[in-house]
Amino acid sequence: MSVIFSGIQPSGTLTIGNYLGALKNFVTLQEEHDCLFCIVDQHAITVTQDRLELRKNIRSLAALYLAVGIDPEKVILFIQSEVPAHAQLGWVMQCVAHVGELERMTQYKDKSSGKDGVSAGLLTYPPLMAADILLYNTDIVPVGDDQKQHLELTRDLAERFNRKHNDIFTVPEVFIPKVGARIKSLVEPTKKMSKSDDNKKSFISMLDDEKTIMKKIKSAQTDSDGIVKFDVENKPGISNLLTIYSACSGKSIEELEQLYVGKGYGDFKNDVAEAVIAELKPVQERYNTLINSDELDRILDAGAEKANRRAYKMMKKVEKAMGLGRNRK
Ligand code: TYM
Repeated sequence: MSVIFSGIQPSGTLTIGNYLGALKNFVTLQEEHDCLFCIVDQHAITVTQDRLELRKNIRSLAALYLAVGIDPEKVILFIQSEVPAHAQLGWVMQCVAHVGELERMTQYKDKSSGKDGVSAGLLTYPPLMAADILLYNTDIVPVGDDQKQHLELTRDLAERFNRKHNDIFTVPEVFIPKVGARIKSLVEPTKKMSKSDDNKKSFISMLDDEKTIMKKIKSAQTDSDGIVKFDVENKPGISNLLTIYSACSGKSIEELEQLYVGKGYGDFKNDVAEAVIAELKPVQERYNTLINSDELDRILDAGAEKANRRAYKMMKKVEKAMGLGRNRK
């Protein structure tokens, strides 16, 4: 049984990008592996957050994890800030990482370019992410395509630590889904769909109602040649909708292309929207019963306790390997 770890930031309501690129796969993985899934609230504060909004988003994300089918009997679901070893190992990994390699991270460059008052946390975010993963002897990290570079850095940091101190970290592998790893914005289909995009029309939130989903997909940017064909270079909008449709319906892209030969974009968009609605509806129903339940708190308490136990042990090993503190039995 492999150890699986992944995290999602509570920085807004999740999009179908987060769902298809990450969450949906977690549900399959939980059946056969030792899974830990985390609400990475400490990552969210690398940019300014409103206190009450953050609290709300943390709870909402926890409910969404469960609503998509994460089973708390099978996985450890917890909040990062409730397990102090993440920040502790995060600091250690900052001391292992080099400033140059952090400055080269594309996400850092994108998020900091042209901005004043960028937090130091935005730069040192990848060592915290490495800590999240390395604390649990993680074998596999399921993520969307945009996290690949952070995973490569995690592997480098783990290997560097192992060489210098003691061979204690498992070097993790990344797992990226074949379909849905990079869902694009509906407005600018060459850009990633992002929950922090200011333009709400660019993403479908997992909690959008049917009418909103239909409206957003109907107004998604496409092209004028009227052919439903997967061609990311020349038809990024249609290709993105085909990807979303395929991931929601389970039908292959080729199958879908065949289905729409000779049909217009109107029918196609309508069916994409129907498929997204069918996928999200049961999730939203479960979400609504969970969001205000005490059960949610009980699950998160139990998750924090289990994660703390495992993380504490690894942190002690790290401190010993580095000579931190005193050597007490
Ligand atoms: P975050 O919160 O931005 O995204 C959560 C997950 O959703 C995936 N994702 C997407 N997949 C497909 N298409 C998209 N448009 C799309 N947008 C987001 C992300 O790849 C991710 O898997 N740094 C991470 C959180 C994190 C983490 C970790 C992940 C912190 N520690 C340890 C794994 C392991 C992040 O910001 O993800």
